[in-house]
Amino acid sequence: MVTAYDCPTARIADEAGIDAVLVGDSVGTVMLGYASEREVTMEDMLHHVAAAARGIRQAYFFADMPYRSADTPRSAEKNARKLIGKGAECVKIEGWREKCPIVACLTKNNIPVCAHIGYNPQIHGAKPRVFGAGAPEARELIESACLLEKAGAVLLVLEKVPEEVSGIITKALRIPVIGIGSGRLCDGQVLVVNDVLGISERSFRHARAFSDFRVRALGALRAYAAAVESGAFPAEEHVRHSDPQELTKLKQPR
Ligand code: KIV
Repeated sequence: MVTAYDCPTARIADEAGIDAVLVGDSVGTVMLGYASEREVTMEDMLHHVAAAARGIRQAYFFADMPYRSADTPRSAEKNARKLIGKGAECVKIEGWREKCPIVACLTKNNIPVCAHIGYNPQIHGAKPRVFGAGAPEARELIESACLLEKAGAVLLVLEKVPEEVSGIITKALRIPVIGIGSGRLCDGQVLVVNDVLGISERSFRHARAFSDFRVRALGALRAYAAAVESGAFPAEEHVRHSDPQELTKLKQPR
């Protein structure tokens, strides 16, 4: 699973056979230049979900509920329906066991929910740390995972959880568990697409760049600018010519 925030990227992920594509609220920090995921609005999400949806053919496609959009069952249902209306098959909600009533309400109303526990940027702010390093917090994570599944979650994202705890959760649940920075024992992995492609300027311990897109893009854009400046671009093959007869007519006085 990867994130995608626009149509061409979603289309490439889909064509590559990625199983699931998420329009995460990471759209705020990754694409919109915001300082925090908390700045992402429903309008931002709807715009990007609609764009990415146009690129999806086969992948499971889902969207984050942005900050404060799922505080009550009523607001969660209203906002989730808007995201579904733009093409999402499922909505992802950050939060541990306290989110069970919201998950249950959406599930009852036929809106599939992906739960997201461990590090939650919307709740914990922009200070990532490992969650579940100590036994009490690990127990809280395991119990939350089981309760969220019971409440109806169809998928679980685990963020920044020790591998051993992720393994226990993955074994305990029937629904697929997708990890990010949570080791190798989950059913699947999710990464921010910019990290996978090597677009991001920063690198993160949990991620791996499978390409060096940023370096290649810099090279390509510098080469383009140099070709325009030297006159090498546009070349003959890029040019459209006037019909000589039309040109003669054009040069004659009216
Ligand atoms: O917003 C996001 O990109 C996410 C992933 C890290 C799972 O929630």
